[in-house]
Amino acid sequence: MSTVIKGGTIIAADRTYEADILIEGETIKAIGPDLAGDTVVDAAGAYVMPGGIDPHTHLEMPFMGTTAAETWESGTFAALSGGTTTVVDFVIPGEDGMLAALEAWEGKATRQASSDYSYHMCVTGWSEKHFDEMAKVVERGINTFKHFMAYKGALMVNDDEMFASFQRCAALGALPLVHAENGDIVAALQKKFMDDGVTGPEAHAFSRPPEVEGEATNRAIMIADAAGVPVYIVHVSCEQAHEAIRRARQAGMRVYGEPLVQHLTLDEGEYFNRDWDYAARRVMSPPFRDKKHQDSLWAGLAAGSLQVVATDHCAFTTEQKRFGLGNFTKIPNGTGGLEDRMPVLWTKGVETGRLTPNEFVAATSTNIAQILNIYPQKGAILPGSDADLVVWDPKLTKTISAANQKSIIDYNVFEGVEVRGLPRYTISRGEVVWTDGRNDAPRPGRGKFVKRKPFPAINKALSTWKELTAPRAVTRSPEHMPIGV
Ligand code: URP
Ligand code: ZN
Ligand code: ZN
Ligand code: ZN
Repeated sequence: MSTVIKGGTIIAADRTYEADILIEGETIKAIGPDLAGDTVVDAAGAYVMPGGIDPHTHLEMPFMGTTAAETWESGTFAALSGGTTTVVDFVIPGEDGMLAALEAWEGKATRQASSDYSYHMCVTGWSEKHFDEMAKVVERGINTFKHFMAYKGALMVNDDEMFASFQRCAALGALPLVHAENGDIVAALQKKFMDDGVTGPEAHAFSRPPEVEGEATNRAIMIADAAGVPVYIVHVSCEQAHEAIRRARQAGMRVYGEPLVQHLTLDEGEYFNRDWDYAARRVMSPPFRDKKHQDSLWAGLAAGSLQVVATDHCAFTTEQKRFGLGNFTKIPNGTGGLEDRMPVLWTKGVETGRLTPNEFVAATSTNIAQILNIYPQKGAILPGSDADLVVWDPKLTKTISAANQKSIIDYNVFEGVEVRGLPRYTISRGEVVWTDGRNDAPRPGRGKFVKRKPFPAINKALSTWKELTAPRAVTRSPEHMPIGV
Protein backbone atom coordinates (compact mmCIF):
# COMPACT_ATOMS: atom_id res chain seq x y z
CA MET A 1 0.00 0.00 0.00
CA SER A 2 1.32 3.40 -0.95
CA THR A 3 0.05 6.88 -0.29
CA VAL A 4 0.77 10.05 -2.18
CA ILE A 5 0.44 13.53 -0.73
CA LYS A 6 -0.57 15.64 -3.69
CA GLY A 7 -0.49 19.27 -4.62
CA GLY A 8 1.13 20.73 -1.52
CA THR A 9 4.02 23.08 -0.91
CA ILE A 10 6.75 21.40 1.09
CA ILE A 11 8.27 23.50 3.83
CA ALA A 12 11.56 22.17 5.10
CA ALA A 13 13.92 23.93 7.49
CA ASP A 14 16.14 24.89 4.57
CA ARG A 15 13.75 25.53 1.66
CA THR A 16 10.23 25.75 0.32
CA TYR A 17 9.20 23.97 -2.89
CA GLU A 18 6.28 22.34 -4.63
CA ALA A 19 6.27 18.55 -4.88
CA ASP A 20 4.25 15.43 -4.18
CA ILE A 21 5.41 12.93 -1.58
CA LEU A 22 5.14 9.18 -2.10
CA ILE A 23 4.94 7.09 1.06
CA GLU A 24 5.49 3.34 1.08
CA GLY A 25 4.88 1.60 4.36
CA GLU A 26 6.20 3.79 7.16
CA THR A 27 8.73 5.83 5.21
CA ILE A 28 9.04 8.40 2.44
CA LYS A 29 9.88 6.71 -0.83
CA ALA A 30 10.05 9.59 -3.29
CA ILE A 31 9.55 13.33 -3.59
CA GLY A 32 8.81 14.97 -6.92
CA PRO A 33 6.22 16.12 -9.43
CA ASP A 34 3.20 14.04 -10.48
CA LEU A 35 3.70 11.02 -8.23
CA ALA A 36 1.01 8.32 -8.07
CA GLY A 37 -0.02 6.03 -5.19
CA ASP A 38 -2.84 3.74 -4.05
CA THR A 39 -4.42 6.46 -1.94
CA VAL A 40 -4.22 10.21 -2.28
CA VAL A 41 -4.01 12.78 0.52
CA ASP A 42 -5.06 16.17 -0.78
CA ALA A 43 -2.60 18.92 0.07
CA ALA A 44 -3.81 21.53 -2.44
CA GLY A 45 -3.52 25.00 -0.94
CA ALA A 46 -1.65 23.58 2.04
CA TYR A 47 1.91 23.27 3.32
CA VAL A 48 3.50 19.91 4.00
CA MET A 49 5.92 19.99 6.92
CA PRO A 50 7.80 17.42 9.01
CA GLY A 51 5.64 16.24 11.92
CA GLY A 52 6.28 18.23 15.05
CA ILE A 53 8.55 16.94 17.80
CA ASP A 54 7.85 18.14 21.32
CA PRO A 55 11.11 17.56 23.18
CA HIS A 56 9.69 18.29 26.63
CA THR A 57 6.65 16.57 28.17
CA HIS A 58 5.69 15.10 31.55
CA LEU A 59 2.80 12.69 30.96
CA GLU A 60 1.46 11.04 34.14
CA MET A 61 4.49 12.30 36.03
CA PRO A 62 4.47 11.79 39.81
CA PHE A 63 5.37 15.27 41.11
CA MET A 64 4.79 17.45 44.18
CA GLY A 65 2.69 14.84 45.96
CA THR A 66 0.41 14.07 43.04
CA THR A 67 0.58 12.80 39.45
CA ALA A 68 0.15 14.90 36.32
CA ALA A 69 -3.37 14.13 35.14
CA GLU A 70 -2.64 14.12 31.41
CA THR A 71 -2.23 10.47 30.47
CA TRP A 72 -0.07 8.95 27.78
CA GLU A 73 -3.27 8.11 25.95
CA SER A 74 -4.81 11.58 26.02
CA GLY A 75 -1.53 13.46 25.76
CA THR A 76 -0.15 11.71 22.70
CA PHE A 77 -3.50 11.95 20.91
CA ALA A 78 -3.71 15.65 21.77
CA ALA A 79 -0.23 15.96 20.26
CA LEU A 80 -1.28 14.36 16.96
CA SER A 81 -4.34 16.58 16.70
CA GLY A 82 -2.02 19.58 16.84
CA GLY A 83 0.52 18.28 14.32
CA THR A 84 3.06 16.82 16.76
CA THR A 85 4.02 13.24 15.88
CA THR A 86 6.75 12.58 18.47
CA VAL A 87 7.00 13.51 22.14
CA VAL A 88 10.04 13.19 24.38
CA ASP A 89 9.11 12.61 28.00
CA PHE A 90 11.19 12.82 31.18
CA VAL A 91 11.75 9.63 33.20
CA ILE A 92 12.11 10.50 36.89
CA PRO A 93 13.91 7.84 38.93
CA GLY A 94 12.56 6.98 42.36
CA GLU A 95 14.33 5.04 45.13
CA ASP A 96 14.92 2.08 42.82
CA GLY A 97 16.94 3.98 40.30
CA MET A 98 16.92 4.76 36.62
CA LEU A 99 16.30 1.34 35.11
CA ALA A 100 13.32 0.62 37.37
CA ALA A 101 11.86 4.03 36.47
CA LEU A 102 12.41 3.32 32.80
CA GLU A 103 10.38 0.11 33.16
CA ALA A 104 7.58 2.06 34.83
CA TRP A 105 7.56 4.64 32.00
CA GLU A 106 7.64 1.88 29.39
CA GLY A 107 4.68 0.22 31.08
CA LYS A 108 2.60 3.35 30.65
CA ALA A 109 3.82 4.51 27.24
CA THR A 110 3.78 1.28 25.20
CA ARG A 111 0.19 0.50 26.08
CA GLN A 112 -1.18 4.00 25.59
CA ALA A 113 0.80 6.07 23.10
CA SER A 114 -0.82 7.06 19.81
CA SER A 115 2.20 9.09 18.73
CA ASP A 116 5.85 8.07 18.68
CA TYR A 117 7.81 8.82 21.81
CA SER A 118 11.26 8.87 23.31
CA TYR A 119 12.67 9.60 26.76
CA HIS A 120 15.14 11.78 28.61
CA MET A 121 16.49 10.29 31.86
CA CYS A 122 16.66 12.54 34.95
CA VAL A 123 19.69 12.54 37.24
CA THR A 124 18.38 13.44 40.70
CA GLY A 125 21.38 12.50 42.83
CA TRP A 126 24.88 11.10 42.49
CA SER A 127 26.45 7.74 43.44
CA GLU A 128 28.24 4.79 41.88
CA LYS A 129 24.83 3.39 40.99
CA HIS A 130 24.02 6.55 39.02
CA PHE A 131 27.39 6.29 37.27
CA ASP A 132 26.77 2.64 36.31
CA GLU A 133 23.14 3.00 35.36
CA MET A 134 23.81 5.88 33.00
CA ALA A 135 25.72 3.55 30.66
CA LYS A 136 22.81 1.09 30.65
CA VAL A 137 20.36 3.90 29.96
CA VAL A 138 22.41 4.94 26.92
CA GLU A 139 22.36 1.32 25.71
CA ARG A 140 18.57 1.47 25.91
CA GLY A 141 18.46 4.29 23.36
CA ILE A 142 18.41 7.36 25.57
CA ASN A 143 21.13 9.92 24.92
CA THR A 144 19.99 12.81 27.12
CA PHE A 145 20.15 13.29 30.91
CA LYS A 146 18.22 16.02 32.67
CA HIS A 147 19.37 17.84 35.81
CA PHE A 148 17.21 20.02 38.05
CA MET A 149 18.98 22.95 39.70
CA ALA A 150 15.65 23.78 41.43
CA TYR A 151 13.10 21.85 43.54
CA LYS A 152 15.33 21.85 46.60
CA GLY A 153 14.82 18.84 48.84
CA ALA A 154 13.23 16.91 45.98
CA LEU A 155 14.73 16.64 42.49
CA MET A 156 17.51 19.24 42.86
CA VAL A 157 21.19 18.34 42.36
CA ASN A 158 24.14 20.39 43.58
CA ASP A 159 27.07 21.63 41.51
CA ASP A 160 29.39 18.76 42.44
CA GLU A 161 26.75 16.20 41.48
CA MET A 162 26.03 18.01 38.24
CA PHE A 163 29.73 18.24 37.38
CA ALA A 164 30.17 14.50 37.99
CA SER A 165 27.13 13.66 35.89
CA PHE A 166 28.17 16.04 33.09
CA GLN A 167 31.58 14.35 32.92
CA ARG A 168 29.84 11.00 32.71
CA CYS A 169 27.68 12.35 29.87
CA ALA A 170 30.83 13.47 28.08
CA ALA A 171 32.31 9.98 28.37
CA LEU A 172 29.13 8.28 27.18
CA GLY A 173 28.43 10.61 24.25
CA ALA A 174 25.28 11.89 25.93
CA LEU A 175 23.86 15.40 26.16
CA PRO A 176 23.04 16.90 29.56
CA LEU A 177 19.83 18.92 29.88
CA VAL A 178 19.31 21.43 32.67
CA HIS A 179 16.36 23.01 34.43
CA ALA A 180 18.21 26.17 35.37
CA GLU A 181 16.89 28.00 38.42
CA ASN A 182 18.89 28.65 41.60
CA GLY A 183 17.04 26.32 43.98
CA ASP A 184 18.56 27.81 47.14
CA ILE A 185 17.40 31.32 46.28
CA VAL A 186 13.95 30.06 45.27
CA ALA A 187 13.59 28.26 48.62
CA ALA A 188 14.66 31.39 50.53
CA LEU A 189 12.26 33.63 48.60
CA GLN A 190 9.40 31.16 48.98
CA LYS A 191 9.91 31.31 52.74
CA LYS A 192 10.07 35.10 52.71
CA PHE A 193 6.78 35.50 50.83
CA MET A 194 5.01 32.91 52.98
CA ASP A 195 6.33 34.67 56.14
CA ASP A 196 5.08 37.97 54.71
CA GLY A 197 1.64 36.46 54.22
CA VAL A 198 1.77 36.55 50.41
CA THR A 199 0.42 33.04 49.87
CA GLY A 200 -1.33 33.29 46.46
CA PRO A 201 -0.12 32.18 43.02
CA GLU A 202 1.42 35.62 42.36
CA ALA A 203 4.06 34.77 44.98
CA HIS A 204 5.12 31.84 42.79
CA ALA A 205 6.31 34.37 40.22
CA PHE A 206 7.80 36.70 42.88
CA SER A 207 9.87 33.85 44.33
CA ARG A 208 11.42 32.93 40.96
CA PRO A 209 12.62 36.22 39.42
CA PRO A 210 14.65 36.21 36.18
CA GLU A 211 17.97 36.62 38.08
CA VAL A 212 17.43 33.20 39.63
CA GLU A 213 17.21 31.69 36.17
CA GLY A 214 20.01 33.79 34.66
CA GLU A 215 22.44 32.83 37.41
CA ALA A 216 21.68 29.13 37.17
CA THR A 217 21.84 29.12 33.37
CA ASN A 218 25.24 30.73 33.45
CA ARG A 219 26.42 28.29 36.12
CA ALA A 220 25.18 25.26 34.20
CA ILE A 221 26.93 26.46 31.07
CA MET A 222 30.23 27.01 32.89
CA ILE A 223 30.01 23.61 34.57
CA ALA A 224 29.37 22.00 31.18
CA ASP A 225 32.32 23.85 29.71
CA ALA A 226 34.50 22.63 32.56
CA ALA A 227 33.28 19.08 31.98
CA GLY A 228 33.85 19.32 28.22
CA VAL A 229 30.29 18.56 27.19
CA PRO A 230 27.61 20.44 25.26
CA VAL A 231 24.53 21.46 27.25
CA TYR A 232 20.82 22.03 26.54
CA ILE A 233 18.90 24.47 28.71
CA VAL A 234 15.20 23.61 28.96
CA HIS A 235 12.37 26.13 29.27
CA VAL A 236 14.42 29.30 28.74
CA SER A 237 12.00 32.02 29.84
CA CYS A 238 13.91 35.29 30.18
CA GLU A 239 16.51 37.60 28.72
CA GLN A 240 19.00 36.83 31.53
CA ALA A 241 19.05 33.14 30.63
CA HIS A 242 19.02 33.84 26.90
CA GLU A 243 21.90 36.27 27.36
CA ALA A 244 24.01 33.62 29.08
CA ILE A 245 23.32 31.19 26.22
CA ARG A 246 24.05 33.81 23.56
CA ARG A 247 27.32 34.78 25.20
CA ALA A 248 28.44 31.17 25.54
CA ARG A 249 27.62 30.37 21.93
CA GLN A 250 29.56 33.39 20.79
CA ALA A 251 32.51 32.08 22.79
CA GLY A 252 32.32 28.80 20.88
CA MET A 253 30.47 26.66 23.41
CA ARG A 254 27.82 24.24 22.20
CA VAL A 255 24.82 25.42 24.18
CA TYR A 256 21.21 24.92 23.11
CA GLY A 257 18.19 26.85 24.38
CA GLU A 258 14.55 25.78 24.43
CA PRO A 259 11.87 28.42 24.97
CA LEU A 260 8.29 27.23 25.53
CA VAL A 261 5.32 28.40 23.51
CA GLN A 262 3.77 29.52 26.81
CA HIS A 263 6.65 31.89 27.68
CA LEU A 264 6.63 33.27 24.15
CA THR A 265 2.97 34.25 24.35
CA LEU A 266 1.74 34.55 27.96
CA ASP A 267 3.03 37.01 30.55
CA GLU A 268 3.20 37.39 34.33
CA GLY A 269 -0.04 39.38 34.38
CA GLU A 270 -1.74 35.96 34.38
CA TYR A 271 -0.73 35.52 38.03
CA PHE A 272 -2.39 38.78 39.09
CA ASN A 273 -5.83 37.57 38.02
CA ARG A 274 -8.39 37.98 40.84
CA ASP A 275 -9.61 34.43 40.28
CA TRP A 276 -7.36 32.13 42.35
CA ASP A 277 -8.02 29.10 40.12
CA TYR A 278 -7.22 31.09 36.98
CA ALA A 279 -3.84 32.17 38.39
CA ALA A 280 -2.97 28.80 39.94
CA ARG A 281 -3.64 26.97 36.69
CA ARG A 282 -0.80 29.02 35.18
CA VAL A 283 1.73 28.18 37.89
CA MET A 284 4.76 26.61 36.32
CA SER A 285 8.53 26.94 36.68
CA PRO A 286 10.01 29.18 35.49
CA PRO A 287 6.95 31.42 35.72
CA PHE A 288 5.56 33.55 32.90
CA ARG A 289 7.56 36.77 32.64
CA ASP A 290 7.15 40.45 31.95
CA LYS A 291 6.39 40.99 28.24
CA LYS A 292 9.84 42.40 27.49
CA HIS A 293 11.32 38.91 27.89
CA GLN A 294 9.08 37.64 25.10
CA ASP A 295 10.81 39.92 22.60
CA SER A 296 14.14 38.46 23.64
CA LEU A 297 12.92 34.88 23.13
CA TRP A 298 11.42 35.61 19.72
CA ALA A 299 14.62 37.34 18.68
CA GLY A 300 16.63 34.33 19.81
CA LEU A 301 14.58 32.00 17.63
CA ALA A 302 15.05 34.24 14.62
CA ALA A 303 18.76 34.77 15.27
CA GLY A 304 19.50 31.12 16.05
CA SER A 305 20.71 31.64 19.61
CA LEU A 306 17.63 29.66 20.71
CA GLN A 307 16.85 26.60 18.64
CA VAL A 308 13.67 24.82 19.63
CA VAL A 309 10.16 25.46 20.94
CA ALA A 310 8.65 22.99 23.40
CA THR A 311 5.69 22.89 25.81
CA ASP A 312 6.92 21.24 29.04
CA HIS A 313 3.39 19.76 28.99
CA CYS A 314 2.84 18.85 32.64
CA ALA A 315 -0.89 19.19 33.15
CA PHE A 316 -2.73 19.13 36.45
CA THR A 317 -6.47 19.53 37.00
CA THR A 318 -7.95 22.50 38.86
CA GLU A 319 -8.61 20.18 41.78
CA GLN A 320 -4.92 19.28 41.91
CA LYS A 321 -3.90 22.94 41.68
CA ARG A 322 -6.03 23.58 44.78
CA PHE A 323 -3.57 21.56 46.90
CA GLY A 324 -1.84 24.92 47.09
CA LEU A 325 -4.72 26.98 48.51
CA GLY A 326 -3.19 29.08 51.28
CA ASN A 327 0.35 28.04 50.33
CA PHE A 328 1.56 28.76 46.80
CA THR A 329 4.58 26.46 47.22
CA LYS A 330 2.21 23.48 47.20
CA ILE A 331 0.54 24.31 43.86
CA PRO A 332 1.70 21.55 41.50
CA ASN A 333 4.01 23.17 38.96
CA GLY A 334 3.15 22.74 35.32
CA THR A 335 0.95 23.77 32.42
CA GLY A 336 -0.30 22.12 29.23
CA GLY A 337 0.17 23.05 25.59
CA LEU A 338 0.94 19.89 23.65
CA GLU A 339 -1.90 20.22 21.15
CA ASP A 340 -1.62 24.00 20.85
CA ARG A 341 2.14 24.43 20.39
CA MET A 342 2.18 24.38 16.59
CA PRO A 343 -1.03 26.39 15.93
CA VAL A 344 -0.15 29.02 18.56
CA LEU A 345 3.45 29.33 17.35
CA TRP A 346 2.28 29.59 13.73
CA THR A 347 -0.33 32.21 14.60
CA LYS A 348 1.84 34.32 16.90
CA GLY A 349 5.08 33.67 15.03
CA VAL A 350 4.60 33.09 11.32
CA GLU A 351 1.38 35.05 10.84
CA THR A 352 3.00 38.07 12.52
CA GLY A 353 6.27 37.83 10.60
CA ARG A 354 8.35 37.06 13.68
CA LEU A 355 9.31 33.71 12.14
CA THR A 356 9.53 32.49 8.57
CA PRO A 357 7.73 29.21 7.79
CA ASN A 358 11.17 27.57 7.48
CA GLU A 359 12.21 28.86 10.91
CA PHE A 360 8.93 27.47 12.24
CA VAL A 361 9.82 24.01 10.89
CA ALA A 362 13.33 24.27 12.31
CA ALA A 363 12.06 25.22 15.78
CA THR A 364 9.22 22.70 15.97
CA SER A 365 10.93 19.72 14.37
CA THR A 366 14.21 19.77 12.43
CA ASN A 367 16.50 21.40 14.98
CA ILE A 368 15.08 19.18 17.70
CA ALA A 369 15.70 16.04 15.65
CA GLN A 370 19.28 17.14 15.01
CA ILE A 371 20.00 18.05 18.63
CA LEU A 372 18.50 14.77 19.88
CA ASN A 373 20.31 12.75 17.19
CA ILE A 374 17.28 11.31 15.40
CA TYR A 375 17.75 13.28 12.17
CA PRO A 376 16.89 12.49 9.37
CA GLN A 377 14.73 9.59 10.63
CA LYS A 378 12.60 12.33 12.19
CA GLY A 379 12.46 16.05 11.45
CA ALA A 380 13.05 15.74 7.71
CA ILE A 381 11.18 15.30 4.46
CA LEU A 382 13.67 13.12 2.62
CA PRO A 383 13.54 9.71 0.96
CA GLY A 384 14.05 7.14 3.72
CA SER A 385 12.80 9.39 6.52
CA ASP A 386 9.85 8.25 8.63
CA ALA A 387 6.68 9.49 6.96
CA ASP A 388 5.80 11.78 9.89
CA LEU A 389 4.14 14.67 8.13
CA VAL A 390 1.64 17.37 8.75
CA VAL A 391 -0.51 18.80 5.99
CA TRP A 392 -0.83 22.29 7.35
CA ASP A 393 -3.77 24.37 6.22
CA PRO A 394 -2.99 28.06 6.76
CA LYS A 395 -6.66 28.95 6.27
CA LEU A 396 -8.11 26.70 8.98
CA THR A 397 -9.04 28.59 12.14
CA LYS A 398 -10.34 27.81 15.59
CA THR A 399 -10.73 29.41 19.00
CA ILE A 400 -8.84 27.38 21.58
CA SER A 401 -11.13 26.13 24.30
CA ALA A 402 -11.03 23.46 26.99
CA ALA A 403 -14.55 22.58 25.87
CA ASN A 404 -13.32 20.99 22.65
CA GLN A 405 -9.71 20.05 23.32
CA LYS A 406 -8.27 16.54 23.19
CA SER A 407 -6.38 17.04 26.45
CA ILE A 408 -8.40 15.69 29.41
CA ILE A 409 -7.60 18.70 31.60
CA ASP A 410 -10.56 20.92 32.62
CA TYR A 411 -8.99 24.18 31.38
CA ASN A 412 -6.52 25.49 28.82
CA VAL A 413 -3.99 28.27 29.42
CA PHE A 414 -4.63 29.45 25.83
CA GLU A 415 -8.42 29.59 26.32
CA GLY A 416 -9.93 32.12 23.87
CA VAL A 417 -6.85 32.43 21.66
CA GLU A 418 -7.85 32.42 18.00
CA VAL A 419 -5.46 30.42 15.91
CA ARG A 420 -5.06 30.50 12.14
CA GLY A 421 -3.15 27.56 10.71
CA LEU A 422 -4.00 23.98 11.76
CA PRO A 423 -3.33 20.44 10.58
CA ARG A 424 -5.63 19.31 7.78
CA TYR A 425 -4.04 15.88 8.22
CA THR A 426 -1.44 14.51 10.59
CA ILE A 427 0.46 11.49 9.30
CA SER A 428 2.54 9.29 11.59
CA ARG A 429 4.82 6.71 9.96
CA GLY A 430 2.64 6.69 6.87
CA GLU A 431 -0.72 6.47 8.62
CA VAL A 432 -3.24 9.30 8.64
CA VAL A 433 -3.91 9.62 12.35
CA TRP A 434 -5.71 12.96 12.41
CA THR A 435 -8.08 14.50 9.88
CA ASP A 436 -9.59 17.92 10.41
CA GLY A 437 -13.35 17.78 10.84
CA ARG A 438 -13.47 14.04 11.43
CA ASN A 439 -14.03 12.69 14.87
CA ASP A 440 -10.78 10.74 15.19
CA ALA A 441 -10.06 8.77 18.36
CA PRO A 442 -6.82 7.86 20.10
CA ARG A 443 -5.24 4.62 18.96
CA PRO A 444 -3.40 3.51 22.04
CA GLY A 445 -0.45 1.25 21.42
CA ARG A 446 0.32 2.35 17.87
CA GLY A 447 3.07 4.75 18.95
CA LYS A 448 6.63 3.44 18.81
CA PHE A 449 9.63 4.14 20.99
CA VAL A 450 12.27 6.15 19.12
CA LYS A 451 15.74 4.90 19.99
CA ARG A 452 18.37 7.60 20.10
CA LYS A 453 22.05 6.71 19.70
CA PRO A 454 24.76 8.53 21.61
CA PHE A 455 26.34 11.26 19.57
CA PRO A 456 30.05 10.98 19.45
CA ALA A 457 30.61 13.88 17.02
CA ILE A 458 30.20 16.89 19.28
CA ASN A 459 31.43 15.15 22.39
CA LYS A 460 34.44 13.83 20.49
CA ALA A 461 35.31 17.30 19.22
CA LEU A 462 35.02 18.71 22.70
CA SER A 463 36.99 15.93 24.35
CA THR A 464 39.74 16.09 21.71
CA TRP A 465 40.09 19.81 22.32
CA LYS A 466 39.94 19.26 26.08
CA GLU A 467 42.67 16.62 25.86
CA LEU A 468 44.89 18.84 23.69
CA THR A 469 44.55 21.74 26.10
CA ALA A 470 44.43 19.75 29.37
CA PRO A 471 46.56 20.83 32.33
CA ARG A 472 49.79 18.84 32.30
CA ALA A 473 52.55 18.44 34.86
CA VAL A 474 55.74 20.32 33.87
CA THR A 475 58.71 17.96 33.46
CA ARG A 476 61.77 19.36 35.26
CA SER A 477 65.19 17.83 34.97
CA PRO A 478 67.35 17.68 38.11
CA GLU A 479 69.46 20.74 37.24
CA HIS A 480 66.30 22.88 37.35
CA MET A 481 65.35 21.69 40.81
CA PRO A 482 66.42 23.35 44.08
CA ILE A 483 69.55 21.65 45.43
CA GLY A 484 69.64 19.86 48.73
CA VAL A 485 65.97 20.04 49.67
O1 URP B 1 6.60 23.72 36.21
C1 URP B 1 7.10 22.85 35.53
N1 URP B 1 7.92 23.20 34.57
N2 URP B 1 6.78 21.55 35.76
C2 URP B 1 7.32 20.43 35.16
C3 URP B 1 8.62 20.02 35.75
C4 URP B 1 9.73 20.86 35.21
O2 URP B 1 10.30 21.66 35.94
O3 URP B 1 10.08 20.76 34.04
ZN1 ZN C 1 11.86 22.04 34.55
ZN1 ZN D 1 9.67 20.00 32.42
ZN1 ZN E 1 67.85 22.59 30.91
